[in-house]
Amino acid sequence: MGTSSSLTRIKKVLEALDRSVIGYRLEKKIVVASLLARGHVLLEGVPGIAKTTLVRALSKSLGLLGEKVTVNGVEFSGFSRIQFTPDLMPSDVTGSLVFNPRTRDFEPRLGPIFAYFVLADEINRATPRTQSALLEAMQERSVTIGNKTYFLEDRSRGKFFFVAATQNPVEQEGTYPLPEAQLDRFVTRVVMGYPESVEEEREILKLHEGRIEEPLQEVMKVADPEDVIRAQDEVVRVKVSEEVLEHVTLLTRLTRPEFLPQVGEFFELGVSPRGGIHLLKLSKAWAYLSGRGEVRKEDVNAMLFPAFNHRVVPRLEKVVEYEEEGGRFSARYRVIREGLEVVRKAVS
Ligand SMILES: Nc1ncnc2c1ncn2[C@@H]1O[C@H](COP(=O)(O)OP(=O)(O)OP(=O)(O)O)[C@@H](O)[C@H]1O
Ligand SMILES: [Mg+2]
Repeated sequence: MGTSSSLTRIKKVLEALDRSVIGYRLEKKIVVASLLARGHVLLEGVPGIAKTTLVRALSKSLGLLGEKVTVNGVEFSGFSRIQFTPDLMPSDVTGSLVFNPRTRDFEPRLGPIFAYFVLADEINRATPRTQSALLEAMQERSVTIGNKTYFLEDRSRGKFFFVAATQNPVEQEGTYPLPEAQLDRFVTRVVMGYPESVEEEREILKLHEGRIEEPLQEVMKVADPEDVIRAQDEVVRVKVSEEVLEHVTLLTRLTRPEFLPQVGEFFELGVSPRGGIHLLKLSKAWAYLSGRGEVRKEDVNAMLFPAFNHRVVPRLEKVVEYEEEGGRFSARYRVIREGLEVVRKAVS
């Protein structure tokens, strides 16, 4: 492929993330790959591990944080955060018509979804109705207010649309966990744990020590939104051989206990065809980030967990068995990881 200028700039975006978020190398790259695959991400992890910082740094590296950009006469925020709560209404996300007493007419009030980057915080705390409003907009890339439909993406004008939703892995009372069908709409679920080592933990402290401002303030603009659009187009053109296509096909099919009995020990339910499509897209973005114009099986294998972990339904008995062995909320991830390992071994 040769290194395109967009890829060079996207790599600078990754470097900018490294300066503001310590560790999470893989996770940061997966978030960027998801953006390039034109998907949306679910970030799962306990509070205070830089989930928000990661998305803000991403938007800042593209010069979008705190900015307003007008596209086709519609104003978009560069970055917008929506705190999901039980009383949040669908119109608080998308927008609504409001009466203007001066003109005696209804006017659209555009909601916070009119942005390049939308951070939907604690998505599982809102009611299913409000969750669906967001998920529908994610899928359609448009919202209708009154009788007018607004497009949230305009590729010819460098306008992309990316949603990162966060969720706490420990299911709390009074939350509405996303049903499988809605989880399936996220290209990936990025599972963020605690910092990997004592060194990382210390580095985080050092980064913050002696600063009044967040380290994020030092992230510079290194690429344009148009670079994201161009990179997305280049990702589409990454080649997939028959062999790799076959690999993705089998990986998808064999997550289903109907077709691979031994996976039934781990999974109740396997992955949908949409899951397979997302795995392929994410693998293309992954190959692109490695500077290759063709997907390899190793790209697909690397994206297997990120693309599938939220789509399989782990078998409860197995989760309980692992919980008893310790490590309370890692048991689910462990069952999923081991089940996917069974699938990968069966295919290769
Ligand atoms: N790995 C890290 N590298 C750099 N800073 C970090 C890291 N982890 C946490 N921090 C710092 O900790 C603070 C909390 O981070 P942030 O608000 O991004 O967390 P969060 O995961 O979004 O939490 P919450 O779930 O409460 O919203 C910030 O000041 C952030 O810079
Ligand atoms: Mg946060």
